[in-house]
Order: sequence, then C-alpha cells, then structure tokens
Amino acid sequence: MDSLLSVRDIKDEVSYIIDLASQIKAGEIEGKPLEGKTLAMIFQKSSTRTRVSFDVGMYQLGGRAIFLSSNDLQMGRGEPISDTAKVLSRFVDGIMIRAIEHDDVVELSKYSDVPVISGLTNLEHPCQALADMLTIKEHFGSFEGKKICFVGDGNNVCNSLLLIAPLLGMDMSVACPKGYEPNEEILKLSEEYANENNTEITISDDINVALDNVDIVYTDVWVSMGDEAEKAKRETDFAPYQVNKELMDIANDGAIFMHCLPAIRGQEVSADVIDGPQSVVYDEAENRLHAQKAVLYHYLK
Ligand code: CP
Ligand code: NVA
Repeated sequence: MDSLLSVRDIKDEVSYIIDLASQIKAGEIEGKPLEGKTLAMIFQKSSTRTRVSFDVGMYQLGGRAIFLSSNDLQMGRGEPISDTAKVLSRFVDGIMIRAIEHDDVVELSKYSDVPVISGLTNLEHPCQALADMLTIKEHFGSFEGKKICFVGDGNNVCNSLLLIAPLLGMDMSVACPKGYEPNEEILKLSEEYANENNTEITISDDINVALDNVDIVYTDVWVSMGDEAEKAKRETDFAPYQVNKELMDIANDGAIFMHCLPAIRGQEVSADVIDGPQSVVYDEAENRLHAQKAVLYHYLK
C-alpha cells in the first residue's frame, strides 16, 4: 500500500500534489470526494496545526477523522504496532500518525492495508514541506531560480525541505552550528535530487555564506519535541542563528520569512521579523489544510 512517510515517497508526484492543492484551495474540486471515508489519526506528540487541518480537511472532503491519542490506545500499553496496523486497516481507509520514532511509522505502514501518512516524526515532516512549497509558489508564482535557506537545527522540518526543494528546481542552503547538521542519509539523497535537477545544496555554519542570494529564509524551534533535555545547551549553541532584522537584511530584496510554527519569539526568530511584513507564516499554516486535502484526495480517493 502506498504511504507518505517521507518526501521521497512522492518524488514523482510532488508537482502534481501541489497543483492539486491549489485547485482544491480555489474550490475547483467539487462535491464530497471522500464521502464515507474515515481517517484514524494517531498522535504520540502534541499538535495544533496538523491535528486540526487533517480533521477539518477530512470533513470538508466529505469524510471523517478519528483522533487517537497514543496514551489511550492499547499501543501505548505495549500492543504491537503490527497488530495495531492490521486491526485499524479493518476499520478505516487511512491512518495519519505523528510519531516519536520514524521507524515505528515505517513498521506501521509495513503491516497496514490502508495508506499511512506521516504527520511528523523525528526524521521528517513531509506534509509541512508540501504546504511550504504551496506557499512559496503562491508568493513567487514559480519555483524556478529561487533559493531557500533553512537557519538553525538540521531537524525533521529541515530534512523534508532538503528533499522537496531540489525536486521542484530550487537551490537550498542550511545555516547550522557544527553538530546540528541534517540527517546524513537525507543529505545524500538531497544532493542526488539536486544533481538530477541542476540545483545546488549548501550546508554551512557561516550564516553569511548560507544566506547569499536567498529568497526564502526559513527557521524552526531550537528545541524540538523530544529534545527538551538538551534545552540549555541548544539555547547557547543556536543563539548566533536567531533570524532577526539584521539577518533578514543579508537575504535578497523581497525575501520572505517562513516558519512551520509553533514559534518562540526572542529565540529562533525576533518578534519584528515573524510579525513583520516579510513574514508569511499564517498563509503557510493555512496551507497545511489545502496541501493535506490534496494528500488525502490522492491517497484515499
Ligand atoms: N507545524 C506543525 O506541524 O504544527 P503542529 O505541531 O501544531 O501540528
Ligand atoms: N521541529 C519541530 C516541528 C514542530 C512542528 C518539532 O519536531 O518539534
């Protein structure tokens, strides 16, 4: 069964899904294409955007979603993931999961007879990357010749952007302190995609190098869910990487600021940037709904 656990799973469909999301947002897909369909949503971590946008998205497409906190599932008491997958497959048409460990989602999809969609793991956040690209396309009209810079922790959000950007013909740079580089395997694949599409990937701890000729400046929290024990060290290590006015001034004229949210003003981003005229963070959050409706349509219809 086809699942969406990583951007690599939609390597050949990325443009199609983004175009479908634009059509859905414009109201061009009529009726209730997912009438009678049910999505199970398993959450092992907190969520505002992912939970609400999947739930509302299913409703708007004519289906329904069931929220399942992993604490309340038998899985939380040790029922094997394989049994959970096989049983849920008998009840629902798709499973969305936000998990602590990426490998658990791989395991779930291995035993599931219905599509599994990742709503974030420690490794990737593919649905976020789709919404981000929809936002960039809306803002600039196309991806051609655009460069995105991710500033901060080479985390799940950064990893998915590293895969999606070259697939759409964009250059990407990452400005991160030593020791916080993106996942090595993802980086290798990102470079492969960049070679295939004549784009460039740059990883540097030097902000000035990474921000050269950049149209989109993207950041995320310094302390992701699960990294709380390293909070003090991370706050020190990332301090020089705060996205503020001074840093935005290095980017191209007309550059936009993006953040997957939730954000901490005064840490990874200054309030004047995230609440200022270059910020598109609420369009980006709204686009989670439209991009995911495209994903749901593609996988569940
Ligand atoms: N960006 C994002 O995934 O937000 P939530 O954690 O609120 O779902
Ligand atoms: N990197 C963050 C993203 C939250 C949407 C985290 O994993 O907590």
